[in-house]
Amino acid sequence: MKFIIDDANVEAIKALYEYFPVEGVTTNPSILAKSGRQPYDVLKEIRGIIGQDADLHVQVVSKKAENMITEAAKMRAELGENTFIKVPTTREGLKAMKALAADGVKITATAIYTPMQAFLAAKAGAAYAAPYVNRIDNLGADGIATVKKIHDIFKNNGLKTEVLAASFKNSQQVQELCAYGIGAATIASDVMEGLIKNDSVVAAVEAFTKDFEGLCGEGKTMENC
Ligand code: G3P
Repeated sequence: MKFIIDDANVEAIKALYEYFPVEGVTTNPSILAKSGRQPYDVLKEIRGIIGQDADLHVQVVSKKAENMITEAAKMRAELGENTFIKVPTTREGLKAMKALAADGVKITATAIYTPMQAFLAAKAGAAYAAPYVNRIDNLGADGIATVKKIHDIFKNNGLKTEVLAASFKNSQQVQELCAYGIGAATIASDVMEGLIKNDSVVAAVEAFTKDFEGLCGEGKTMENC
């Protein structure tokens, strides 16, 4: 499972890139709004941090297919041709996906709440389909089961589209989909940090240090004992 950062906070992205095995960044208009910065300013800075080859997913805002297509052209010109264009999986979005895919544009179909939306997006040429785990749960449906079903639909129909699971609120949701072999997950910085936060681990490491220092002296390690 690819791990991607769902954030536009450059400090958080820099920190995660330094410590975590991550492979790209996704944003949406709400995430960009949270940064409080001009979209292309912050996105170019993110591109600079993650490099030209890493996955950067950026969403169109227009509602009509024709405008989504011209937005995509501007985004690719500003941020690089390998930018994944996130297109909401609406009726107009499907039309835009078909046209963009025909031009070789990399598409991430987003705002997915149902397996059939994902299936249609895959058939329309999306490279990734992004179902919203936690938002589906909040509707009283089962986000994890929906994502697993989408994954199975892609495999059973010979579709190359990968699932890019999104909208996580906790480690358990990520773990469940990781165990199932979902292609990718985009995870907010705080949820990503939560994957490794564990008081038992901290206590175990502190006990190792204390025991070793009891043997060799304070501050001693295997480098200088
Ligand atoms: O980009 C869409 C997805 O990441 C939304 O997440 O946390 O706003 O439900 P969230």
